[in-house]
Amino acid sequence: MNINGLIWIEGVLKAAENQQSPIIIGTTDKNIEYLGGYQFILNTIKNKIQAMEITVPVLIHLDHGLSVENCKRAIDVGYDSVMFDGSQLSIEENIKQTKKVVEYGHQKGVLVEGEVGAVGGEEDGLIGQVRYADINECVALVKETQLDTLAPALGSVHGKYQGEPNLGFEEMKIIRNKVDVPLVLHGASGISNYDLQRAIKLGHAKINFNTEINMSWTKKLRDTLEDDKDLFNPQKILKPSIQAIEQTAEKIIKMCGSNNQNEVFIQN
Ligand code: 13P
Repeated sequence: MNINGLIWIEGVLKAAENQQSPIIIGTTDKNIEYLGGYQFILNTIKNKIQAMEITVPVLIHLDHGLSVENCKRAIDVGYDSVMFDGSQLSIEENIKQTKKVVEYGHQKGVLVEGEVGAVGGEEDGLIGQVRYADINECVALVKETQLDTLAPALGSVHGKYQGEPNLGFEEMKIIRNKVDVPLVLHGASGISNYDLQRAIKLGHAKINFNTEINMSWTKKLRDTLEDDKDLFNPQKILKPSIQAIEQTAEKIIKMCGSNNQNEVFIQN
């Protein structure tokens, strides 16, 4: 789940602990400066884990790393996992650059995610078109780079869907059979529970959520301000919205079947 500030960290950690679910906290590269920089974000999440006495495993992840250099910076400060987003590059260049991140990351025990095709839609100001992942390119990226997780773009979009999401389940099945790493689904907000669970059965082990959490936070914030137009106490304004983040995160965890998986995760 992607975070957009301190209260997101609190909300998703609380949800994970309540549901006894391991959790991946994602910070998208485009937001790093706004969030305070790699080191600050990492320290803040780690301090919160300690202060809140969180017992479930938490993985700190760089989402959509914009360059090899940025991925290396996140690795150097201690991120557990990074995604190199080579979706705008030719497959040859994507392989070349992802491989650099994998070689660097693996030396330091950091997991690396790569992308083939392009997830469309709007994410934090970036607007892109959907480009379906080519199956042979997926196989090549995994084989040549030895990455840990693969995000094949199969029709999902970041942000709000215009019309019904149309995921390529046939391609998903083929990719599942041809690569031996877990798959990652970007743009999960707005996809039906049925389709998400189908994607999970077809090998998706990491499901990325951002928009759905932000929408529930925004709605609660708006309602709180509209209900009492004289309110200016920040805690009174923000607290209900943190609960909205927490509740949405818990709903997502349960829908993905990640609740009560703490023990399983540790054993593996
Ligand atoms: P949504 O914004 O659709 O939830 O997608 C999040 C995502 O894929 C982050 O990489």
